[in-house]
Amino acid sequence: MERILPLVVGNWKMNGHFADECRIRALLCSLEPLSLRADVIICPPATLIRSFSSLVKESGVAIGAQDCHTALSGPYTGDISSSMLVDAGAKAVILGHSERRIAHGETSHIVRKKAKIAHQAGLTAIICIGESEAERVRGEGARFVVDQLRASLPDMPDCCWSRLVIAYEPVWAIGTGDVPAPAELEEVHSMIREELQSLSLEYGRKTRILYGGSVRSSNVSALLSMKNVDGALVGGASLQVNELLGILSFYAS
Ligand code: PGA
Repeated sequence: MERILPLVVGNWKMNGHFADECRIRALLCSLEPLSLRADVIICPPATLIRSFSSLVKESGVAIGAQDCHTALSGPYTGDISSSMLVDAGAKAVILGHSERRIAHGETSHIVRKKAKIAHQAGLTAIICIGESEAERVRGEGARFVVDQLRASLPDMPDCCWSRLVIAYEPVWAIGTGDVPAPAELEEVHSMIREELQSLSLEYGRKTRILYGGSVRSSNVSALLSMKNVDGALVGGASLQVNELLGILSFYAS
């Protein structure tokens, strides 16, 4: 079977200014000798997409965004469309992050519409799903995640599957230092894989399923060596070049 090329996505959240170009430069310099067996996407705030995109040209690192609107243009003050992100140089967009689902009331229905419009603009849609602490305690975590996946996925023509990435991010693991036990992680990731394969056997088995939530260089090998974990969505640690390099080194040959 064809091997999946892993992907590591750095989510800078609402952190970073123009002066932080130096972090991207440092990352690119350090990555050069590593010969990574993984794709890398850095998602800074929207204000930095254009300048970072010109820095990473021809480097193997891509720049992504953290959200987009459900429409391509229109009277939506303060919003950014997927085509504007492409225009600024983005190759991917994170959608349905729990911080947006919680703080901005984003439902899976909205996420699904955003994914569709992101695909239309030519972006890779990184769709985030994950259960809360309450659902986990009730023993309903895995079921919740699969239902959320089903509701967040757009109908996709075959050509869009290669631009779909799923990120499993348990809400209780984000920024807390807690991570799922290996068996727990493997169970959820294999349920996600089964669900994707039920939609398309051919494409579902090749879709990258990332893990996100307190990924650090110190826990990366335990998390990323699990079956059906095809990379990571990294928040806080992606802001520190050395930490991110420590994580990426897992895929260095
Ligand atoms: P964290 O965040 O790595 O800081 O836990 C992950 C995320 O929210 O994407």
